[in-house]
Amino acid sequence: MRDLGKTPQAVADETVLNQELLGWYDRNARSMPWRISPADRALGVQPDPYRVWLSEVMLQQTTVAAVTDYFQRFTQRWPSVMDLAAAEDAQVMAEWAGLGYYARARNLLKCARMVAHDLEGNFPDTYEALLKLPGIGPYTAAAVASIAFDQRETVLDGNVERVMSRLHNVHDPLPAVKPVLKDHAGRLTPELRPGDYAQAVMDLGATICTPKNPACGICPWRAPCLARVAGTAPDLPKKIPKQPKPTRLGLAYLARSVDGAWLLERRPDKGLLGGMLGWPGSDWNEAPAPRPPFEANWRDLGGEVRHTFTHFHLILQVKIAELPAGHNLAPGQELLSRHAFRPQDLPTVMRKAFDLWEGSDFNPARD
Ligand code: ADE
Repeated sequence: MRDLGKTPQAVADETVLNQELLGWYDRNARSMPWRISPADRALGVQPDPYRVWLSEVMLQQTTVAAVTDYFQRFTQRWPSVMDLAAAEDAQVMAEWAGLGYYARARNLLKCARMVAHDLEGNFPDTYEALLKLPGIGPYTAAAVASIAFDQRETVLDGNVERVMSRLHNVHDPLPAVKPVLKDHAGRLTPELRPGDYAQAVMDLGATICTPKNPACGICPWRAPCLARVAGTAPDLPKKIPKQPKPTRLGLAYLARSVDGAWLLERRPDKGLLGGMLGWPGSDWNEAPAPRPPFEANWRDLGGEVRHTFTHFHLILQVKIAELPAGHNLAPGQELLSRHAFRPQDLPTVMRKAFDLWEGSDFNPARD
């Protein structure tokens, strides 16, 4: 690690640094539906661990803006971990549709049921105990322990990595440099108000110490920030370039009965989009073999669906045929009447295929 351009002013004491940041947070904390404001926190209002846990699971790899509506719908429908534990799998998967990374939703339910059945509805309050629960990794365990229980744990997400790499002007690339950044973050975490502190660093990263054009002029850490002094803030953190994503192809089959019911399949729990509803279809690879759910005159909808997953781009061709009366449902298949079918319950890639049909000449109700 190189510490470029260290100045006496820059080597500020950790206590001064975290107090400066907490002061900034007291004035600038973003309002979020799961968050207790610093003013309420000071008055003794306690966060609800269920809401903190739910929000942090949703926020893994997803932005605050995307999560907010989902969080509101989940907590209206399932206000406590006991309610969520008693929910049906299909309802939770449908509510999660569109948020992506569906293993999170399956683990969410497993975790809720474990907390409800084995822990009488009480989330554990330590990092180590939280880490044992399904779907809770080091990030989420630290976030819940610090935000919900004010434990002095170090939260390291993308925002915190960026802030630490700049504050200390660390030029070694991610991901290898993560432990160094965690160490910096750990030393800065205070004994008092660690939960507010964790949220303050994340807010700083999200609003001021942004990836591009950081607003160094209004940053509470502008004086001690070594990267600002060295003029390197916008270049940090350094990252090992990612491998380009391959493109895979696939076919999706939309089968609709004369009365408007749709043939869908629930995908196996393991694997991509696991546990979600989707259209019957081919495998996704370089040259997919057609795999229609029944023999018919399958017509091409025209156009294509493009969607990007973590490790590949997908281009789907979409076919349509009338579902014959009396079609025998294969294992995993579901027939959803026009009233039961809700496109918003589908994962985004499947929703895009439906949208293509909706805008096509094959939709009898199209304007
Ligand atoms: N990103 C993930 N968790 C967050 C939190 N608790 N506050 C702000 N940003 C976040």
